[in-house]
Amino acid sequence: MVSDELDRGLEGATVAETRLSRIDGETGDLVVAGFPVEALATEATYEESVFLLLYDRLPTAEELAAFRSDLAARRGIGDEVRAVLRRAAEAGEPPMDALRMGAAAATLDAPDADDATADPDDATADPDAPAEGPVDDAAAADHAAARRAIAAFPTVVATYWRYRRGEEPVAPREDLGHAANYLRMLTGDEPTDAAVRGLETYLNTVIDHGLNASTFAARVVTSTESDLVSAATAAVGVLKGPLHGGAPGPVLDDLREVHRSGDPEGFVRAKLDAGERLMGFGHRVYRVRDPRAAVLEAAAERFYGADGDADFFETAREYESVAVDLLAERKPDRRLDTNVEFYTAALLHGVGVPRDLFTTTFAVSRVGGWMAHCQEQRENNRLIRPTSRYVGAEGRTWTPVEER
Ligand code: ACO
Repeated sequence: MVSDELDRGLEGATVAETRLSRIDGETGDLVVAGFPVEALATEATYEESVFLLLYDRLPTAEELAAFRSDLAARRGIGDEVRAVLRRAAEAGEPPMDALRMGAAAATLDAPDADDATADPDDATADPDAPAEGPVDDAAAADHAAARRAIAAFPTVVATYWRYRRGEEPVAPREDLGHAANYLRMLTGDEPTDAAVRGLETYLNTVIDHGLNASTFAARVVTSTESDLVSAATAAVGVLKGPLHGGAPGPVLDDLREVHRSGDPEGFVRAKLDAGERLMGFGHRVYRVRDPRAAVLEAAAERFYGADGDADFFETAREYESVAVDLLAERKPDRRLDTNVEFYTAALLHGVGVPRDLFTTTFAVSRVGGWMAHCQEQRENNRLIRPTSRYVGAEGRTWTPVEER
């Protein structure tokens, strides 16, 4: 059925079924594989969230231990990938471009995770696999590629970052969890429990969010029966765009400015008088406060209370309250409330993720959602191929080049 109606942004067009997440923009509900985001964010480890998305259930303790060590064994990158990242850092390539290059190159030297879960013929490699008989080769390769991408993203980002700072990369440590290892590879220091918990909450909170632009891109790539690394690389390119993943850096700049001046109201009024948008507010889908804002606010409050600059966190709260009030005053007909990026900035800054890596850290989480969506697309695939309306010229007559 071909519709004649033009739908530039595909808003409201439903093009996939998913069991991964459900968003209600009117009530502000986000459910991830059956769990309210509030529960998943605070209860799960990132590895549990990934397992949940990939296999649609929580792992047993034994399965979780095997899954964790499988991911940990896939973290390493080799000399060739490091050389690409060193070159990207020296050339001043932005972090998301370095991630795109590194993620693509990391297929060259994917280590074989040699424990039981990496063995595609072992039933524990895929909890849904039959107890006997080989798992389908293509499906096993897909699962391995998904786990490799999820495991390697933090190493790629941290390696690039260390080179950019003129430092040697920190090798991944297999005994650490996903979040703790990422922080350690970034800073070289053993992270505190509060920082690990704060980062883990963030990673769980943003792991999946319906058919957002990067996830859609990953599904389009998969729908052509292409591979998961190509899908992940395309998704990184989409997430790089400032309309998708770029707001938390500027939010942090605003927070620092307000913290310095101590005058949130003057700051907000000046921005709005200049016709600028307030970063961290407004959302395409939510007509209420983004539920992820509350989760991250609570996580930031816990972190700053335990291990950070509590005064900075109070500035964030005060700024938010002033901003929401003034936005309501200026736009009485359009509810503009806090979005996920606002407390992302405060939380990631607090736990020690550098401002320039906010978007790449978003990718470190979201790659779990991308990979699960790709697998879901595979399960019930149909080539995603919308139509366009031709508005170009008609009836032209060809003129040979020498006569033009
Ligand atoms: N500050 C000030 N005014 C705003 C803001 C804002 N943050 N957001 C929307 N408005 C205004 C617009 O200027 C517009 O006013 P107008 O009708 O006078 O032109 C009106 O509200 C409606 O705006 P739209 O662009 O239609 O809102 P839309 O739903 O398309 O945009 C978006 C959503 C892009 C997130 C927008 O709110 C925005 O730019 N926010 C700031 C950037 C930001 O925080 N982005 C991260 C979003 S979360 C995420 O993507 C993961």
